[in-house]
Amino acid sequence: MDTTETPLPEPKEGLSESPEQGTFYATTPIFYVNAEPHIGHAYTTILVDVVTRFHRLKGNDTYFLTGTDEHGEKVAKAAAAAGRTPQQYVDTISAQFRNTWNQMGIGYDEFIRTTEERHKLVVQEILQRVYDNGDIFYGEYSGLYCVGAERFVTEKELVDGKCPDSDQPPEYRSEANYFFRMENYRPWLRETIGRNPDLIRPDRYRNEVLAILREPIGDLSISRPASRVPWGIPLPWDEDHVCYVWFDALINYYSALKSQGLEGRYWPAVNHFIAKDIVKPHGVFWPTMLKAAGLPLYKHLNVHGYWLTGEQKMSKSLGNVVRPLSLQQKYGNDAFRYYLLRDMTFGLDANFGELALAERINSDLANDLGNLLNRTLGMVGRYRRGIVPAAGTLEPVDEQFIAHQTELPERVGRAFERVQFDRAMEAILDGVRATNRYISDTEPWQLAKAEESASRLDTVLNTAVEALRCASILLDPVMPAKMSELREQLGIDQIPFTLGHAAQWGLVPPGTVTRPGEPLFPRIDLKALETELSAPEEPPLKHKDEIIIDEFAKLELRVATVLSAEPHPDADKLLVLKVKLGPEERTVVAGIRQHYQPEELVGKRIVIVANLKPAKLRGVNSQGMILAAEDAEGRLAVVTFDRDMRDGSVVR
Ligand code: MSP
Repeated sequence: MDTTETPLPEPKEGLSESPEQGTFYATTPIFYVNAEPHIGHAYTTILVDVVTRFHRLKGNDTYFLTGTDEHGEKVAKAAAAAGRTPQQYVDTISAQFRNTWNQMGIGYDEFIRTTEERHKLVVQEILQRVYDNGDIFYGEYSGLYCVGAERFVTEKELVDGKCPDSDQPPEYRSEANYFFRMENYRPWLRETIGRNPDLIRPDRYRNEVLAILREPIGDLSISRPASRVPWGIPLPWDEDHVCYVWFDALINYYSALKSQGLEGRYWPAVNHFIAKDIVKPHGVFWPTMLKAAGLPLYKHLNVHGYWLTGEQKMSKSLGNVVRPLSLQQKYGNDAFRYYLLRDMTFGLDANFGELALAERINSDLANDLGNLLNRTLGMVGRYRRGIVPAAGTLEPVDEQFIAHQTELPERVGRAFERVQFDRAMEAILDGVRATNRYISDTEPWQLAKAEESASRLDTVLNTAVEALRCASILLDPVMPAKMSELREQLGIDQIPFTLGHAAQWGLVPPGTVTRPGEPLFPRIDLKALETELSAPEEPPLKHKDEIIIDEFAKLELRVATVLSAEPHPDADKLLVLKVKLGPEERTVVAGIRQHYQPEELVGKRIVIVANLKPAKLRGVNSQGMILAAEDAEGRLAVVTFDRDMRDGSVVR
């Protein structure tokens, strides 16, 4: 679509107080393509997926954007290190991100790449606009620059001489750049954040931004000389400079909409989700850029902490990354999503542990939820031939229970609104546990014994099925596949569901036929897992120097048939083999006597290094060497063939 046709909207004053009711636009950061996706990236992306699904369940018009950040020195350097052109390199890694999200069932609406033409056009349009307004000037800059974080850092920010974001030492730089008059917008931004307590949340990050704004923030260098960093978007008024990668990247949140004519529908109903590493660009650069471009400010900047492994931030350079796909395959996508939401308090760091993940699955999903489903289906099967009965007259215990359950959507909704996702999960599981208690208290197995309590038993069974229906709705955003399986087993997969339906009771039609199936969340054997995890990791292989194919071709490897094998007369570790290589016969001495009985070898087709210089081994002339493998436990096996092969043939 030609983005130049519709001009940017005219500048509006300040924050749009309340974006269109019922519209929800959520974003992840666009990830750098210098590393493969790991759990940290997966968390933000899964979170946005869950939150968007939750809003869709509420009936909101939702839009979910993710993508990749592909310009800048960091990416250019990574491409060079990989021996590829920047474009080849970014194509590969961007596809890896997209594939990972697809395989994890992430329902993004749009995947934006900053190397796309549609994005470049919007960036250039915004640059031109800010330039025309007089907010960009040309000047000299010198200071400390961190390539890892792609920004200038101040002396004061350094921790042990290193950049606080990337943990890398910055380098001194001095060059002529274009600057954005960011400092001019500082009073406005302070006042705006002051007036909107939940613009940046949780509070600790709001305070962090306010602390930055208490002192001059300076002007932002927004260009790099194209002669030094050619990998970027050219400034529309000066092609010798390219746009600074953060100025380019932040605009993705708007360009993705603008390039499709969706900005009127979703901007500024935007909720950005990021981790604490990129608070400054999102909390300071981006709002001032929007203001200067005459665009309304985002609705919320939601900031989470880090997933740590062994108390350290996961990062490629530390080599402690956890790959999301391997866990998803091992434990199931939905259970993995649940763990990530349940075990991180939004805003704080959390330690990632596979054992904790397994424990969480066992306690909440296999025990509490899985068990509730099984016992309910079991009792409906046993006592009512698998057919859900209508409820009889409600007693106070039922009414109390139902009141508690129908309040849950409200509680969960509030937790979502306050970005307290662990509490939202806990509230739902609280409802599940209350249902298990309700069943224990009402003792349906006792009711089943007497004919006169039949109606009471109907009520209890019906109530349990209703509670499961509601729980399946509330958990649907986080575990969509498993909850749809759960509804199938209950026989209610055809009943429409929205968040509103989770607050209503009595929607399961009496007479519904249940279809019990496999357990939703099989229990994980924690003992076995502990043993697996405590097994020492295999040490990395020590490789020899690389060789080229011509060097390998110098080896003459041939198939040989063992004609006879005898112990060496003077050495107890050696066997003397007579072997046949087509028309030739040879004697080969091999150090395999402790591993093979001589007669085991006769008739075997093995591999000989046929051009090895003959050598005398304890008085016997050896005309070649046989190939064998030895493992760390000292076991040895001779290389043989998996089908018949004529001796003398070349092995390559
Ligand atoms: N390209 C920039 C963002 C530009 S947005 C306009 C960038 N990319 S990144 O690949 O480094 O991604 C950073 C983001 O990845 C974090 O903000 C967070 O969303 C996610 N995470 C990366 N490591 C993480 C953890 N260890 N823990 C939690 N999330 C982390 O910055």
